[in-house]
Amino acid sequence: MKYFSDPPKCLFAIKYYIKEKSTHMDTQTLFPSWFIPVTLLLFFPSIFMYAIRRRSSSNKLPPGPKRLPVIGNLHQVLLGKGGVHQTLWKLSQTYGPAMLLQFGSQPFLVISSSELAAEVLKTHDQKMCTRPQSKPAKRLSFNYMDVAFSPHGDHWRDMRKVLVSEFLGPKRIRLYKNVMQIEMEALIASISLHSLNTTINLEDVILSLLYDVVCKVTLGKSYREKKFNGTTLKEIVDETSVMTGASFSFIFPTFGWILDELTGLDRKLEKCFNDLDGYLQMVLDEHADQNETSDHVNDFVDDCISRLTSDEIKALVMNVLEGALDTSAITMVWAMSELVKNPGVMQKLQNEIRICVGRKSSVDESDISKMTYLKMVVKETLRLHPPAAFLMGRECVSHCQIGGYDVLPGTKIMVTAWGIGRDPRIWKESPTEFLPERFENIEVDFGGKNFEMIPFGGGRRACPGNNMAILTVEYAIANLLYSFNWETPSGMKNEDLDMNGNGFPFLRRTTPLCLVPTKYNWED
Ligand code: HEM
Repeated sequence: MKYFSDPPKCLFAIKYYIKEKSTHMDTQTLFPSWFIPVTLLLFFPSIFMYAIRRRSSSNKLPPGPKRLPVIGNLHQVLLGKGGVHQTLWKLSQTYGPAMLLQFGSQPFLVISSSELAAEVLKTHDQKMCTRPQSKPAKRLSFNYMDVAFSPHGDHWRDMRKVLVSEFLGPKRIRLYKNVMQIEMEALIASISLHSLNTTINLEDVILSLLYDVVCKVTLGKSYREKKFNGTTLKEIVDETSVMTGASFSFIFPTFGWILDELTGLDRKLEKCFNDLDGYLQMVLDEHADQNETSDHVNDFVDDCISRLTSDEIKALVMNVLEGALDTSAITMVWAMSELVKNPGVMQKLQNEIRICVGRKSSVDESDISKMTYLKMVVKETLRLHPPAAFLMGRECVSHCQIGGYDVLPGTKIMVTAWGIGRDPRIWKESPTEFLPERFENIEVDFGGKNFEMIPFGGGRRACPGNNMAILTVEYAIANLLYSFNWETPSGMKNEDLDMNGNGFPFLRRTTPLCLVPTKYNWED
């Protein structure tokens, strides 16, 4: 689920744009001499409209911090320390669980309690289940042909049905598990070949594993080496994910397009789209040309070709690649980080895994169902580190009330999954500590019944891939912990491991997780 021209992504993207430019250029190049006068001129009508709108409103709007003319609360978020997730969580402690901010000319409602999350994702789901629209989202989803960016409606419903039946249905899940087992065994063999005390960047290793598995199941082969215009599929997916949020016109609809043009974002978007379209067209052409042999196993594209248009297939493939890869990899990396930081938990989990597996070379799926502590560890990881800190952006389509406040059509909605998972009102026992045992007596359902932790969102737009995600994370962690013991590199203490997170579109570790594996000899 990467995605999505959505509110948090847009903020991250602007921050990223400024940071990226400023690392390569001086201030003059970053903001050329025409930039400030032109921007002020463009802002002027907005100041006027803003003043009129504020005076004429009789609704009881949610509270929020003071805004500056034109940019609204943008400065608070862009200048805040510790990432947007922490800045908004701290602000919500002052202004309450329904907090109204304004980014540019657009109103954003920030929801920070499980009760109000339930109002948004359940009670008023129908009025809140469309996605905000933007130029990059439209272009990179092949004109909203996908599930994730698509406005709520018949097309979204049809595409979601195809995704659920063809990618997440029993037939494909069986294939996914088989491919995962083969690739996992290859990964264990390759890590085992490393000489003693070699440090491994775990996110790189896990992402390569997932790319191979997901691409084989979706596209028929790994496509790891294949390039289009000199660009790999991974580079294209990463760029697409960044570009879907990069838009000034999203928060300044009247004149932002000029800034998009002048800052080069439009050109970058076109290049990104052409690479993406070209790569996926190459994949479709290869599928059209393939000679089917008797042992050919249909991949996801094969099964879609007879029923969807090329653009629909490309858009769905992107949802799968953006949805299934980074989110699962980030979850696994956070889980491994917490385990290394908490050696007692790691030891307890390894004991469980090694007892359940017995004496054989790797873990298989039937072993996982017996591992109750593993399930608690994965839940605790998703509570503290939901990869999508604000879920995906939503937009209110008709007037409703949340927490007793009026929410007007057009308001963008951000639900702080990160803050809700750490809320001391809900998680009474050491809310920011990693304590998987807390789940011994708590039932948590990821399908949208509970709102105390919402890593997969809820309601109609909830993540359809939650079962596949849990299956992947549990299986990979069980194998990594069964086959190896993991230590921090020499000279670093476990408790010194940096646990800060930041970033867009997902909240990943600020520093890479580099660990030293030692092979566990199951035959001893
Ligand atoms: C740990 C892994 C994952 C996490 C944390 C995650 C999280 C999320 C979240 C928070 C949303 C937005 C929900 C909302 O707006 O209420 C979402 C949507 C989505 N996810 Fe996932 N996801 C994961 C794995 C997957 C996988 C494996 C797929 C497989 C295809 C997937 C496909 C999607 C799609 C297509 C949507 C858009 C749904 C819609 O708009 O109707 N995700 N995901």
